[in-house]
Amino acid sequence: MSKKKQMVIGALVHANGSHAASWLMDEARPHASTDIDYYREMAQLAERGKFDFFFIADTPAARTENLRAWSRSPLFMNVLEPITLLSAIAGATTRIGLGATASTSFYEPYNVARLFSSLDHISHGRAAWNVVTSANDYAARNFGLERLPPHADRYTKAKEFLEVVEALWDTWEDGAFVYDKETCQSFLPEKQHLVDHKGKYFTVHGALNIERSPQGRPVIIQAGASDTGRDFAAEHAEVVFGSSGNLDAAKAFYSDLKARMAKFGRRPDDLKIASGISVVIGDTEQEARDKLDRWQDLVHPDVGILRLGQDLETDLSDLPLDEPVPVSRIPATSNLHKAYFDEIAGLIRQGLTLREIARRFNRAKATFCGTATQVADHMEAWIEAGACDGFMISFVALPSTMTDFVEKVVPELQRRGRFRHDYEGRTLREHLGLARPENRHTSLTSTPIAKRA
Ligand SMILES: Cc1cc2nc3c(=O)[nH]c(=O)nc-3n(C[C@H](O)[C@H](O)[C@H](O)COP(=O)(O)O)c2cc1C
Repeated sequence: MSKKKQMVIGALVHANGSHAASWLMDEARPHASTDIDYYREMAQLAERGKFDFFFIADTPAARTENLRAWSRSPLFMNVLEPITLLSAIAGATTRIGLGATASTSFYEPYNVARLFSSLDHISHGRAAWNVVTSANDYAARNFGLERLPPHADRYTKAKEFLEVVEALWDTWEDGAFVYDKETCQSFLPEKQHLVDHKGKYFTVHGALNIERSPQGRPVIIQAGASDTGRDFAAEHAEVVFGSSGNLDAAKAFYSDLKARMAKFGRRPDDLKIASGISVVIGDTEQEARDKLDRWQDLVHPDVGILRLGQDLETDLSDLPLDEPVPVSRIPATSNLHKAYFDEIAGLIRQGLTLREIARRFNRAKATFCGTATQVADHMEAWIEAGACDGFMISFVALPSTMTDFVEKVVPELQRRGRFRHDYEGRTLREHLGLARPENRHTSLTSTPIAKRA
């Protein structure tokens, strides 16, 4: 009998959870977002669930406007720097992959190459970099810009950035550092390969000062939803976060993205699509729904309207709460999160009131409420339908929703032969079934960065 398709499972972790009111819940620990002991416990819980990876999203900015409203839902207002955080978690875990976001709009390639290579060494091969171009002007203002550059320019820069980072990760062949005391030679000079890059955005002439990392290079994650983002993912990404809440749209995204890979000489299996999902588990479906309803009731109206304004890229706070939002308030174009923008525009076009839209809008994530069996059924159905290779689970309330998932859903998926009983490999690439990339300077099919299109 052929083995059933296995699921990839990642955990997207915000300190108290991803729900807008997570910090207000009874279980929420104040100051969790800067508490390394707390994060270690969460990572150990995820590792107990045999998850592929533990993931920290990021933006390099605190909000500086509408502070009263942000104080009611302080996402990214008080957080640990993610690579520093994961380096500390690496010492408290042994197998689970460790992924973090770093923006190509605000770092230099050398810094990112060095940071993630270090994390890969520190974690013995468990690092992953989520390549984002960033999507808020608060971050831009911390780095000498008034606004983010246009979407297409950000992606052109991201492509060059990533290619330089990958070249830097190959500056040393495997085995370059020999530490041979007898010959007094710590490394073999012929195994160093300079990067000599002069591009539109970056000029780098040099070599990374750290040896090739256990995974060859850290796993590349991406979450582009736009056409440009999909092409970028098809060419470079090894894990993609899909963000569709609807099965047909997810299937279309899956086949579109996998089909795009061929033109970059890649096989569909070289990239795993993890669909974003939030789950609320109860002993009955009704119990799960009631739980989510109680949490939704904790969301202050200011917060709903603030989130809509942010993702629709226009302020809606002057509008009455209980009247439909005029279609004329939808801006002509979006420059930030296109998928979220389109979702809100769609809700406005349905004639919903501001209050209804604020309550319903969920940043393209499906919040699935049900029993552990129903959650497992849902996940299996999506895998069977060809909608994804696995799931990026955004835990709405922590620690309860992750504990429920680990204790109730994981055993069910294991029983059905859909998920590992234990880690078989040591590195994240091994968990994901991804090959360790060969160094371009030793591989027969290699192309130096200067000669790439
Ligand atoms: C699960 C998930 C996690 C994401 N994490 C981040 C993040 O940490 N930082 C960030 O700036 N954007 C993040 N994004 C947004 C994406 O990078 C991307 O901007 C968004 O999906 C829109 O795609 P587009 O830029 O191709 O329009 C995330 C998206 C998803 C679905």
